[in-house]
Amino acid sequence: MLDIQNIRRDFPFLKQMVHGKPVVFLDTGASAQKPNVVIDAVKESYTNDYANVHRGVYYLSDQATEKYEGTRKVVQNFLNAEKLEEIIFTKGTTESINLVASSLLDDYFEVGDEILITEMEHHANIVPWQLMSKHKPLVIKYIPVTDKGELDLSALPSLLKAKTKLISLTHCSNVLGTINPIKEIIQQIRQNYPDIAIMVDGAQSIVHQKVDVRDLDCDFFAFSSHKLYGTTGVGVLYAKEKWHWLMSPYQGGGDMIKLVTMQQTTFADPPYKFEAGTPDIIGVIGLSKAIEYVQGVGMDNISAHEQALLQYATKSLKTIPGLRILGESEHKAAVITFVIDGFHANDLGTLLDLSGICVRTGHHCAQPLLQRFNVPSTVRASFGIYNTQEDVDALIKGLNKAMKMLN
Ligand code: ALA
Repeated sequence: MLDIQNIRRDFPFLKQMVHGKPVVFLDTGASAQKPNVVIDAVKESYTNDYANVHRGVYYLSDQATEKYEGTRKVVQNFLNAEKLEEIIFTKGTTESINLVASSLLDDYFEVGDEILITEMEHHANIVPWQLMSKHKPLVIKYIPVTDKGELDLSALPSLLKAKTKLISLTHCSNVLGTINPIKEIIQQIRQNYPDIAIMVDGAQSIVHQKVDVRDLDCDFFAFSSHKLYGTTGVGVLYAKEKWHWLMSPYQGGGDMIKLVTMQQTTFADPPYKFEAGTPDIIGVIGLSKAIEYVQGVGMDNISAHEQALLQYATKSLKTIPGLRILGESEHKAAVITFVIDGFHANDLGTLLDLSGICVRTGHHCAQPLLQRFNVPSTVRASFGIYNTQEDVDALIKGLNKAMKMLN
């Protein structure tokens, strides 16, 4: 069992009051709060160790480079990637997906090729493919979602075609909370289509469970540091080595070249070929601290704690008249999105805020999914390592109060 009170002490944010009430933070799905180890590492690195990486011959630049590159090793181990160079630092999940889309466009996709995504994707896993298909006409198809909020995998055989060149799907829906059976889906695809590129959006899954990219057998896996208790501005793209030669550089600039002449450029080897410009050095260093933190708590312990909260919150929310949860899969992360008959999500969110409760309202950057469920706007409570049953009780009390006020 986790000592949650002890964990809460690691997060200074949670000590504050909002509108005179103790803060109840239920928006970790959007971005997680930061533990002291991350905040301290950022402060210490800016105070004493700060210098640009890969460029200086002096001691402090070497030190910064060592810490920055040390994080690559930490991430490699965290994801169980085979090779260090398969870990590419980006700005976040969104940039990781854009990088893959853009890098594969020239040499991998041909006009008329098909990309398969799902109806439960975040915009970050829809829009980049739509943008690419404007440069080179590509067909985008969607695996449907059932009323329960699961992928309808019976549709998969008819959606896969000889022209399907890439499948990109979320590991865990940021709206429904559904954890997709990625390993089984990949095995099924590989039986008949061993060479299709398979990308996994791990933005939501990485915080709730252990991820092993070799066990999943995906080609690409993306996540963001800020959802994993690290800083904003840093993401990871795992890209299996076999794809590197097919991938064009995503951006041009410093640090990604071998030789530049006035006429042309040859590129550095991956991962540097995909990391143009000065990166978020301190953010990357912070990521290693965030990973060490969650590993110290234990990913299995985190999963068990969040599953218990999910059960408790689901049961409690169902006591509210007219409340309907979107996404009732048995395989869910601690993310609960709901609507209440007769109430607008934004009104509920605004009144919850007055009780110190932070939730996200709206479409959660997943408009096609909300269209699928025919709801314009919803409330989402998403839980993290530091949430407690008292937070759930506060949410229920806050909702009852808000509904009374709005009636
Ligand atoms: N993708 C984040 C969310 O689901 C921002 O809220």
